[in-house]
Amino acid sequence: MDTAVAPLVRIRDLRLEASTQRGTAHILRGVSLDIGRGRILGVVGESGSGKSSLASCLLRLLPSNVTRLDGSIVFDGTDLVQLDESAMTQWRGRRIAMIFQDPMTALNPLFTVATHLVDVLKRRHRGIGRADALGRARSALVSVGIADPDLRLSAYPHQLSGGMRQRVMIAMALLVEPDLLLADEPTTALDATVEAQIVDLFESLRQKFSGSIVFISHHLGLVAQLCDDLCVMYGGTVVETGPVAEVLARPQHPYTRALLACEIDSDAQGGRLVSIPGEVQDPVAPHVACVFAPRCQHADERCRASVPPLQDSGAQRRVACLRHGEIG
Ligand SMILES: Nc1ncnc2c1ncn2[C@@H]1O[C@H](COP(=O)(O)OP(=O)(O)O)[C@@H](O)[C@H]1O
Ligand SMILES: [Mg+2]
Repeated sequence: MDTAVAPLVRIRDLRLEASTQRGTAHILRGVSLDIGRGRILGVVGESGSGKSSLASCLLRLLPSNVTRLDGSIVFDGTDLVQLDESAMTQWRGRRIAMIFQDPMTALNPLFTVATHLVDVLKRRHRGIGRADALGRARSALVSVGIADPDLRLSAYPHQLSGGMRQRVMIAMALLVEPDLLLADEPTTALDATVEAQIVDLFESLRQKFSGSIVFISHHLGLVAQLCDDLCVMYGGTVVETGPVAEVLARPQHPYTRALLACEIDSDAQGGRLVSIPGEVQDPVAPHVACVFAPRCQHADERCRASVPPLQDSGAQRRVACLRHGEIG
């Protein structure tokens, strides 16, 4: 991340807790992270690491059982954590837009593609005429690689393939012209060929879209191809951040190394998923030690005695591991 330019979003010590039958779930345990202007930030980590919850905090769309949201999310000088709901509504769908894993959750089955896109434009540009809006909707579909936009404008969501629906979602998000686009596993529901096409689409958007993107994925290979910066999450914490090429070439946190090793092994085994041994962090467990210590082959008594801070660990890099300097 270019340190000379202030980041678009500065997240500090973000804590999210919810009440469950088993006790308080510590969903985010003090997340600190910068989102650079015009950069693509990849957020990776196993399922349950807190990636989607981080996106929910950025949009402030929180589950009803949440009992605590603390810390700050300073977006261009405004702390989103402190905003009231009516002010937050102005941010959502204007300065922040979201692309979900399953586009069907965001598309209304009763409305055509045209209606979805025109609605976004009307909300964004008050007083826009229908013909103008339809023209822009059509161009938006072309810009996301839809070759027959007129046919697709009159289609209903269920008449489209999964890949086509995801393209429509991306077109909707782009029409918002947000400063920040959140994409939560946008390719996970797609088959490998379509996934590759959507990743290509994201890459081509770099020229047209000047905002920042947070690209959430559990697939390091995708993130390596697409992103500038990387944030590795585990157990509701950030364990490592930095420029993507450097983190992947020289991972400093044992969890990042383990993720990378799994991906390499999975590829070697013809795509069969290889996972890190041991149980994923239980959100109800108290936070008194390194969250990864129970699964870490390098953990010693220090790692089990205190929470490791996220520290500077080289050019634009940060790592939360007490032993990162000792383990080669
Ligand atoms: N509303 C909630 N109540 C209780 N626990 C939750 C809630 N939302 C998420 N969690 C828990 O928080 C952890 C992180 O979830 P999530 O953000 O969905 O992770 P990811 O997107 O990385 O898979 C998981 O253990 C999940 O079960
Ligand atoms: Mg998720």
